[in-house]
Amino acid sequence: MNLELPRPAIFAHRGASASAPENTLAAFRLALSQPADGIELDVHLSADGIVVVIHDQNLNRTTNGVGLVHRTRLEELRRLDAGQGEAIPTLDEVLALVGDQVLLNVELKGFAQPGERLAAETIACVRSHGLSHSVLYSSFDVRHLLRIRQLEPDVALGLLLDRGWSGWLARTLFEPLIRPWSLHPHYTAVDDRFLARARRSNRPVIAYTVNRPEDLHQLFSLGIDGIFTDDVPSAVAVREQMR
Ligand code: G3P
Ligand code: MG
Repeated sequence: MNLELPRPAIFAHRGASASAPENTLAAFRLALSQPADGIELDVHLSADGIVVVIHDQNLNRTTNGVGLVHRTRLEELRRLDAGQGEAIPTLDEVLALVGDQVLLNVELKGFAQPGERLAAETIACVRSHGLSHSVLYSSFDVRHLLRIRQLEPDVALGLLLDRGWSGWLARTLFEPLIRPWSLHPHYTAVDDRFLARARRSNRPVIAYTVNRPEDLHQLFSLGIDGIFTDDVPSAVAVREQMR
Protein backbone atom coordinates (compact mmCIF):
# COMPACT_ATOMS: atom_id res chain seq x y z
CA MET A 1 0.00 0.00 0.00
CA ASN A 2 1.53 3.29 -1.12
CA LEU A 3 -0.61 5.72 0.77
CA GLU A 4 0.00 6.97 4.27
CA LEU A 5 -3.24 7.19 6.23
CA PRO A 6 -3.98 9.47 9.17
CA ARG A 7 -5.18 7.70 12.29
CA PRO A 8 -8.06 7.26 12.64
CA ALA A 9 -8.60 7.33 8.88
CA ILE A 10 -12.02 8.41 7.65
CA PHE A 11 -13.40 6.66 4.58
CA ALA A 12 -16.36 7.98 2.61
CA HIS A 13 -18.76 5.04 2.48
CA ARG A 14 -20.17 4.67 -1.07
CA GLY A 15 -18.67 8.14 -1.59
CA ALA A 16 -20.14 11.10 0.29
CA SER A 17 -23.39 9.20 0.50
CA ALA A 18 -25.07 11.35 3.17
CA SER A 19 -25.06 14.31 0.76
CA ALA A 20 -25.06 12.83 -2.76
CA PRO A 21 -26.52 9.71 -4.39
CA GLU A 22 -24.43 6.75 -3.20
CA ASN A 23 -21.77 5.24 -5.49
CA THR A 24 -22.05 7.99 -8.12
CA LEU A 25 -19.39 10.32 -9.54
CA ALA A 26 -21.09 13.19 -7.69
CA ALA A 27 -20.60 11.30 -4.40
CA PHE A 28 -16.93 10.60 -5.18
CA ARG A 29 -16.22 14.20 -6.24
CA LEU A 30 -17.78 15.47 -3.05
CA ALA A 31 -15.78 12.95 -0.97
CA LEU A 32 -12.56 14.22 -2.55
CA SER A 33 -13.45 17.80 -1.67
CA GLN A 34 -14.50 17.12 1.93
CA PRO A 35 -11.77 15.75 2.01
CA ALA A 36 -12.10 12.09 2.98
CA ASP A 37 -8.90 10.14 3.68
CA GLY A 38 -10.20 7.27 1.59
CA ILE A 39 -13.21 6.31 -0.48
CA GLU A 40 -15.16 3.05 -0.38
CA LEU A 41 -17.27 1.78 -3.28
CA ASP A 42 -19.00 -1.45 -4.33
CA VAL A 43 -18.64 -3.28 -7.63
CA HIS A 44 -20.61 -5.77 -9.73
CA LEU A 45 -20.27 -7.00 -13.32
CA SER A 46 -22.74 -5.99 -15.98
CA ALA A 47 -24.17 -8.69 -18.28
CA ASP A 48 -21.49 -7.83 -20.84
CA GLY A 49 -18.67 -8.07 -18.31
CA ILE A 50 -17.99 -4.43 -17.43
CA VAL A 51 -17.19 -3.56 -13.80
CA VAL A 52 -19.86 -1.14 -12.57
CA VAL A 53 -20.14 0.72 -9.29
CA ILE A 54 -23.37 -0.04 -7.44
CA HIS A 55 -24.15 -1.59 -4.06
CA ASP A 56 -27.12 -3.92 -4.53
CA GLN A 57 -27.33 -6.76 -7.01
CA ASN A 58 -30.80 -5.40 -7.80
CA LEU A 59 -31.39 -2.09 -9.55
CA ASN A 60 -34.57 -1.25 -7.67
CA ARG A 61 -33.37 0.63 -4.59
CA THR A 62 -30.81 3.04 -6.04
CA THR A 63 -31.99 3.56 -9.63
CA ASN A 64 -35.20 3.95 -11.64
CA GLY A 65 -34.58 0.54 -13.23
CA VAL A 66 -35.60 -2.99 -12.27
CA GLY A 67 -33.88 -6.36 -12.45
CA LEU A 68 -30.43 -7.68 -11.70
CA VAL A 69 -27.24 -5.78 -12.48
CA HIS A 70 -25.47 -8.87 -13.81
CA ARG A 71 -28.35 -9.56 -16.20
CA THR A 72 -28.29 -6.03 -17.63
CA ARG A 73 -25.90 -4.80 -20.31
CA LEU A 74 -23.83 -1.67 -19.74
CA GLU A 75 -25.64 0.29 -22.42
CA GLU A 76 -28.93 -0.23 -20.59
CA LEU A 77 -27.42 0.43 -17.15
CA ARG A 78 -26.05 3.74 -18.42
CA ARG A 79 -29.56 4.94 -19.30
CA LEU A 80 -30.75 4.62 -15.71
CA ASP A 81 -30.91 7.42 -13.16
CA ALA A 82 -28.94 6.59 -10.02
CA GLY A 83 -30.28 9.72 -8.27
CA GLN A 84 -30.31 13.44 -9.09
CA GLY A 85 -29.63 12.68 -12.74
CA GLU A 86 -26.41 10.76 -11.99
CA ALA A 87 -25.58 7.61 -13.94
CA ILE A 88 -24.26 4.32 -12.57
CA PRO A 89 -20.50 4.82 -13.06
CA THR A 90 -18.09 2.24 -14.37
CA LEU A 91 -15.06 1.47 -12.21
CA ASP A 92 -12.96 2.82 -15.06
CA GLU A 93 -14.59 6.26 -14.74
CA VAL A 94 -14.14 6.35 -10.97
CA LEU A 95 -10.47 5.42 -11.24
CA ALA A 96 -9.99 8.17 -13.82
CA LEU A 97 -11.60 10.67 -11.43
CA VAL A 98 -9.96 9.61 -8.16
CA GLY A 99 -6.56 8.44 -9.41
CA ASP A 100 -4.10 8.14 -6.54
CA GLN A 101 -5.42 11.16 -4.61
CA VAL A 102 -6.80 8.96 -1.83
CA LEU A 103 -6.87 5.30 -0.93
CA LEU A 104 -9.71 3.62 -2.79
CA ASN A 105 -11.38 0.63 -1.17
CA VAL A 106 -13.03 -1.46 -3.87
CA GLU A 107 -15.54 -3.86 -2.32
CA LEU A 108 -16.37 -6.80 -4.57
CA LYS A 109 -20.04 -7.77 -4.37
CA GLY A 110 -21.43 -9.88 -7.20
CA PHE A 111 -22.36 -12.76 -4.91
CA ALA A 112 -24.50 -14.15 -7.73
CA GLN A 113 -21.38 -14.80 -9.80
CA PRO A 114 -18.51 -15.13 -7.36
CA GLY A 115 -14.91 -15.98 -7.95
CA GLU A 116 -13.60 -15.80 -11.42
CA ARG A 117 -14.70 -12.94 -13.57
CA LEU A 118 -15.47 -10.09 -11.24
CA ALA A 119 -12.09 -10.36 -9.52
CA ALA A 120 -10.19 -10.69 -12.80
CA GLU A 121 -11.98 -7.77 -14.49
CA THR A 122 -11.63 -5.54 -11.42
CA ILE A 123 -7.91 -6.18 -11.17
CA ALA A 124 -7.41 -5.60 -14.89
CA CYS A 125 -9.24 -2.28 -14.68
CA VAL A 126 -7.19 -1.07 -11.70
CA ARG A 127 -3.98 -2.23 -13.34
CA SER A 128 -4.79 -0.37 -16.55
CA HIS A 129 -4.81 2.85 -14.50
CA GLY A 130 -1.54 1.95 -12.77
CA LEU A 131 -3.31 2.12 -9.40
CA SER A 132 -2.69 -1.35 -7.98
CA HIS A 133 -0.89 0.12 -4.99
CA SER A 134 -3.46 2.69 -3.97
CA VAL A 135 -6.38 0.27 -4.04
CA LEU A 136 -7.49 -1.90 -1.14
CA TYR A 137 -9.72 -4.78 -2.28
CA SER A 138 -12.29 -6.11 0.14
CA SER A 139 -15.17 -8.57 0.17
CA PHE A 140 -17.44 -10.54 2.46
CA ASP A 141 -16.95 -13.38 -0.04
CA VAL A 142 -13.55 -14.97 0.49
CA ARG A 143 -13.70 -16.57 -2.95
CA HIS A 144 -13.16 -13.13 -4.45
CA LEU A 145 -10.25 -12.48 -2.11
CA LEU A 146 -8.60 -15.82 -2.86
CA ARG A 147 -8.92 -15.20 -6.58
CA ILE A 148 -7.36 -11.74 -6.27
CA ARG A 149 -4.51 -13.17 -4.20
CA GLN A 150 -3.91 -15.73 -6.96
CA LEU A 151 -4.00 -13.17 -9.77
CA GLU A 152 -2.05 -10.40 -8.09
CA PRO A 153 -0.24 -11.62 -4.94
CA ASP A 154 1.08 -8.22 -3.82
CA VAL A 155 -2.11 -6.17 -3.58
CA ALA A 156 -3.74 -5.26 -0.26
CA LEU A 157 -6.81 -7.23 0.80
CA GLY A 158 -9.37 -6.29 3.44
CA LEU A 159 -11.40 -9.06 5.06
CA LEU A 160 -14.98 -7.90 5.63
CA LEU A 161 -16.68 -9.39 8.68
CA ASP A 162 -20.42 -9.51 9.25
CA ARG A 163 -21.90 -8.45 12.56
CA GLY A 164 -22.31 -11.03 15.32
CA TRP A 165 -21.32 -14.68 15.34
CA SER A 166 -20.76 -15.08 11.64
CA GLY A 167 -18.18 -12.29 11.70
CA TRP A 168 -16.33 -13.96 14.56
CA LEU A 169 -16.42 -17.28 12.71
CA ALA A 170 -15.26 -15.72 9.44
CA ARG A 171 -12.35 -14.07 11.21
CA THR A 172 -11.34 -17.33 12.91
CA LEU A 173 -11.55 -19.39 9.73
CA PHE A 174 -10.39 -16.96 7.07
CA GLU A 175 -7.92 -14.52 8.61
CA PRO A 176 -5.12 -17.16 8.63
CA LEU A 177 -6.06 -18.28 5.12
CA ILE A 178 -6.38 -14.86 3.46
CA ARG A 179 -3.68 -13.04 5.46
CA PRO A 180 -5.44 -9.74 4.76
CA TRP A 181 -3.73 -6.37 4.98
CA SER A 182 -6.67 -5.07 7.06
CA LEU A 183 -9.80 -6.22 8.89
CA HIS A 184 -13.16 -4.58 8.21
CA PRO A 185 -15.59 -5.54 10.99
CA HIS A 186 -19.06 -4.23 11.74
CA TYR A 187 -18.43 -1.49 14.30
CA THR A 188 -20.40 -3.29 17.03
CA ALA A 189 -17.80 -6.09 16.99
CA VAL A 190 -14.91 -3.80 17.88
CA ASP A 191 -13.61 -3.78 21.45
CA ASP A 192 -10.20 -3.82 23.17
CA ARG A 193 -9.78 -7.54 22.59
CA PHE A 194 -10.61 -7.32 18.91
CA LEU A 195 -8.07 -4.53 18.44
CA ALA A 196 -5.38 -6.21 20.55
CA ARG A 197 -5.57 -9.36 18.42
CA ALA A 198 -5.34 -7.30 15.23
CA ARG A 199 -2.34 -5.39 16.60
CA ARG A 200 -0.49 -8.65 17.23
CA SER A 201 -0.74 -9.46 13.53
CA ASN A 202 -0.10 -5.85 12.57
CA ARG A 203 -3.44 -5.45 10.76
CA PRO A 204 -5.28 -2.13 10.68
CA VAL A 205 -8.93 -2.33 11.74
CA ILE A 206 -11.38 -0.26 9.71
CA ALA A 207 -14.99 -0.53 10.95
CA TYR A 208 -18.21 0.01 9.00
CA THR A 209 -20.57 1.97 8.94
CA VAL A 210 -20.25 4.54 11.68
CA ASN A 211 -22.45 7.62 11.52
CA ARG A 212 -23.47 8.47 15.10
CA PRO A 213 -21.11 10.85 16.97
CA GLU A 214 -21.27 8.71 20.14
CA ASP A 215 -20.15 5.62 18.20
CA LEU A 216 -17.39 7.57 16.45
CA HIS A 217 -16.23 8.89 19.79
CA GLN A 218 -16.15 5.44 21.37
CA LEU A 219 -14.24 3.84 18.48
CA PHE A 220 -11.74 6.70 18.28
CA SER A 221 -11.18 6.37 22.06
CA LEU A 222 -10.41 2.68 21.62
CA GLY A 223 -7.72 3.64 19.12
CA ILE A 224 -9.31 2.23 15.96
CA ASP A 225 -7.30 2.66 12.74
CA GLY A 226 -10.16 3.80 10.55
CA ILE A 227 -13.91 3.93 9.96
CA PHE A 228 -16.31 4.01 7.03
CA THR A 229 -18.94 6.72 7.30
CA ASP A 230 -21.64 8.27 5.13
CA ASP A 231 -20.93 11.65 6.70
CA VAL A 232 -17.23 12.53 6.49
CA PRO A 233 -17.43 16.13 7.82
CA SER A 234 -19.13 14.97 11.04
CA ALA A 235 -16.52 12.26 11.59
CA VAL A 236 -13.72 14.74 10.93
CA ALA A 237 -15.29 17.10 13.49
CA VAL A 238 -15.31 14.35 16.14
CA ARG A 239 -11.70 13.49 15.33
CA GLU A 240 -10.72 17.16 15.66
CA GLN A 241 -12.51 17.54 19.01
CA MET A 242 -10.57 14.60 20.38
CA ARG A 243 -7.11 15.78 19.38
O1 G3P B 1 -16.97 -2.01 3.05
C1 G3P B 1 -17.66 -1.60 4.18
C2 G3P B 1 -19.16 -1.63 3.98
O2 G3P B 1 -19.45 -0.99 2.77
C3 G3P B 1 -19.71 -3.03 3.97
O3 G3P B 1 -21.10 -3.07 3.90
O4 G3P B 1 -23.24 -3.33 2.74
O5 G3P B 1 -22.27 -1.06 3.01
O6 G3P B 1 -21.25 -2.67 1.41
P1 G3P B 1 -21.98 -2.50 2.71
MG1 MG C 1 -19.57 -1.54 0.70
